[in-house]
Amino acid sequence: MRLAVIGGDGIGPEVVAEGLRVLRAVYPKVETTEYELGARLWHRTGETLPDSVLDELRGHDAILLGAVGDPGVPSGVLERGLLLRLRFELDHHVNLRPVRLYPGVTTPLAGDPTIDMIVVREGTEGPYAGAGGTLRRGTPHEVATEESINTRFGVERVVRDAFARASRRPRAHLTLVHKNNVLTKAGDLWSRTVAEVGAEFPGVEVGYQHVDAASMFFVTDPGRFDVVVTDNMFGDILTDIGAAIAGGIGLAASGNLDPSGAHPSMFEPVHGSAPDIAGQGVADPTATVASVALLLEHLGHTAEASRVDAAVAASLAERASSGGGRRSTREVGEELAARAAG
Ligand code: NAD
Ligand code: IPM
Ligand code: MN
Repeated sequence: MRLAVIGGDGIGPEVVAEGLRVLRAVYPKVETTEYELGARLWHRTGETLPDSVLDELRGHDAILLGAVGDPGVPSGVLERGLLLRLRFELDHHVNLRPVRLYPGVTTPLAGDPTIDMIVVREGTEGPYAGAGGTLRRGTPHEVATEESINTRFGVERVVRDAFARASRRPRAHLTLVHKNNVLTKAGDLWSRTVAEVGAEFPGVEVGYQHVDAASMFFVTDPGRFDVVVTDNMFGDILTDIGAAIAGGIGLAASGNLDPSGAHPSMFEPVHGSAPDIAGQGVADPTATVASVALLLEHLGHTAEASRVDAAVAASLAERASSGGGRRSTREVGEELAARAAG
């Protein structure tokens, strides 16, 4: 396996080191190339993602990324210039974000909810595409506009992916989340596409929810969701709620997939660079390790993926029963690696 590694900023390199430790424990035949991208490179050279690096990345089987973003760099420079550019250039149109409450893990929700869903977030369009948009500064009548791009091609391919995933799951249920009562143009395109693609998947039951109500049901009744398909922006927000209800942002994994295999897919925790705890060695690496399981699964190493997932599950159960004392990033990584190695 040829793996490109981008630690990035803040806690990114700390959690990625543990992700790699666990990966090597189950799959030693990995050849890594580390890329120093992020705030340090930007300060030194003004570059966020040199074209030559992008070309090299294309030659890898997958990418493991920590997080990008730094308080010393204007907001958006690294997020757009590095992370989003990677997602766009490598055509990561399926942003896969499982939301699962592992046995023993405590949730802030009341009762004992079942949470086992997959959010399929569109990854290359919506307001993130940054097409058009203006900001006229320097007058009392400033105007800022942002444009949201939704193409039939882009919507259809992610909707079809979500239907295929739903059809392979026992409940076979798909919820479209949008805001078609206000965003009537994009909403119409998404709703029609779901209806039309749905005809190809008669075994999948389809529901719809506006994003405000969906946010409420994530908290009050998450068990109603199986597969959720939604646009880039709604998916970003919903999956932080998903993380919060399923044990916290330190556990939430993601894959930025190009399911066609034409470009390497990229795996990263849902969380960011966490400047408030960076450098202290206390970040939870579990989200990154769970992202490594998604990476292994994506590359067809199903048995190894299961071992990593089982290690995460066992570790979380143990943390719950032992009261979960505060452990270092490295201690958690070493424990997960030992469990995964078996
Ligand atoms: P964040 O996810 O970095 O942090 C939010 C809170 O969660 C913080 O209190 C942080 O300490 C905590 N947290 C995050 N990950 C944790 C972990 N593994 N273990 C324990 N606690 C953890 O979000 P933010 O504060 O909104 O953003 C910080 C920076 O990260 C910004 O520059 C933002 O643009 C960037 N960001 C990057 C990504 C990414 O690279 N994919 C994702 C989100 C935010
Ligand atoms: C995420 C992050 C990114 C996003 C930012 C940093 C561009 O919040 O991966 O969830 O909005 O997609
Ligand atoms: Mn986010």
